[in-house]
Amino acid sequence: MGSQPADADGFTVKLARSGKEVFVRQGDSILFELLDEGVQVPFSCGVGICGACWQRVVSGEPDHRDFCLSDEERERGAVMICCAGSLSPTLELDL
Ligand code: FES
Repeated sequence: MGSQPADADGFTVKLARSGKEVFVRQGDSILFELLDEGVQVPFSCGVGICGACWQRVVSGEPDHRDFCLSDEERERGAVMICCAGSLSPTLELDL
């Protein structure tokens, strides 16, 4: 789906390299929304443990819900997209 207003019940994931935008409802998975849209991204566990779905945040504020990233990795922009949400209306990823 395309982008939606910031006050909708979710957030927009913007892919910096392709320019694609995908709306993710609160509680849904960025990873699975991207896969549904045909965006090829690696993953394995789907629950924030393995580290396979690692992506880099370009802008926005992720709501980290994984169990594998260190504070330092998060500060450097890493995000696990299988389980992360967003605290900002738009989360831009280096994809
Ligand atoms: S798929 Fe394992 S941490 Fe996201």
